[in-house]
Amino acid sequence: MSEQFEAIVAREKRLYAPTARRWPLALSRGAGSRVWDLDGKAYIDLTAGWGVNAIGHCHPRMVSAIQDQCRTLMQTTNIVYTEAQLDLAERLDRIAPDPIHRSFLVSSGTEANEGALKLAHAATGRSRFVAALGSFHGRSLGAIGLLGQEKHRARWRAIAREADFVPYGDLAAAEGAIDERVAAMIVEPIQGEGGVNVPPPDYLAGLRRACHAAGALLILDEVQTGIGRTGRWLALEHSGVVPDILTLGKGLGGGMPIAGFMATDAVMDTMQPGDHGGTYAGNLVTCRAADTVLQVIEEEDLVRRAERLGSQTRARLERLVERGAGRAAGVRGRGLLLGLVFEQPEEAAHLHAACRERGVLVSLTAERVLRLFPALNIPESELDQALEILEDLVGSA
Ligand SMILES: Cc1ncc(COP(=O)(O)O)c(C=O)c1O
Repeated sequence: MSEQFEAIVAREKRLYAPTARRWPLALSRGAGSRVWDLDGKAYIDLTAGWGVNAIGHCHPRMVSAIQDQCRTLMQTTNIVYTEAQLDLAERLDRIAPDPIHRSFLVSSGTEANEGALKLAHAATGRSRFVAALGSFHGRSLGAIGLLGQEKHRARWRAIAREADFVPYGDLAAAEGAIDERVAAMIVEPIQGEGGVNVPPPDYLAGLRRACHAAGALLILDEVQTGIGRTGRWLALEHSGVVPDILTLGKGLGGGMPIAGFMATDAVMDTMQPGDHGGTYAGNLVTCRAADTVLQVIEEEDLVRRAERLGSQTRARLERLVERGAGRAAGVRGRGLLLGLVFEQPEEAAHLHAACRERGVLVSLTAERVLRLFPALNIPESELDQALEILEDLVGSA
């Protein structure tokens, strides 16, 4: 370990809350799908800032949009109208399925889900929520009550209101839990943090029916799956299911802190002035950045590209599994949200560290899943190089 790295570790220990189990890595710079550490070593980033940098690190068009907005008006209050918010809301309206037209913009995925919970309560007058085991919806107090992993939720039981949990992908269990006391079921179209879990094909449609029947709302959390990640603008397009409320984050801002919830007119109109808000909600600089991300994705046809690169990558990972390499046990996911599953956590952890040493960043989730969620515009040559390294490491594990 370099002196510079040791120094940053010591500073963190002295100055920062110990809330992150950090990798032994300190990054200082990024461009496209490459990042560099403090010692100048380059990495191919298949994590894209945790599924965030949809168009890569520091995309020049984003940088100049941010600079332009900074020179014009950085921040004001939501008591006034701003075009930046509405330009973004207009673009989101074009992406979202009919009849979802309206947005509320916030700064993080967890806040988007908090808003969705309040909105579901306002629209139904009910106060129970159903969520799936293995889910992740954020860490603020409302969202943590929806976190489908007992080990993360239990610590906050005394102060966070818990949802009723059902196994992910089990329609009968959800149907049993969604009754006339339930305001909404919240669910991810593919569970990202839970291990890249794809539900059975009829699952979301079944949830839609069950919610309708009970007068409950369906909230789709697309914070990780939205904005092209799964080879569609929204993952809900794979099933054709239209929720009552949709939440977005991560890729939307491409690296700037912006997220949001969207809803049908009927649902959104149950909110009244003062019901929700935030000083930085819909901040102008982040809105301009997100607008640019969506523009670049559209102009460069990156959604279809994510689907194409995703299927090629998936086929390569499946070949590893067929060969029985490194005890790789399966491949999950869609588009550029893919998980390579190992039989044991130790194997996944070993490969995760080995990839980093060889200059490839992947994420390790649900203990035994290596998750790949690179930028949608990752150069094919870089993706290929990263996969060759991964294949080599898995093959010799
Ligand atoms: C599906 C999903 N929802 C919500 C969140 C929380 O988003 P944030 O970390 O921006 O609060 C995440 C973060 O990983 C997520 O994957």
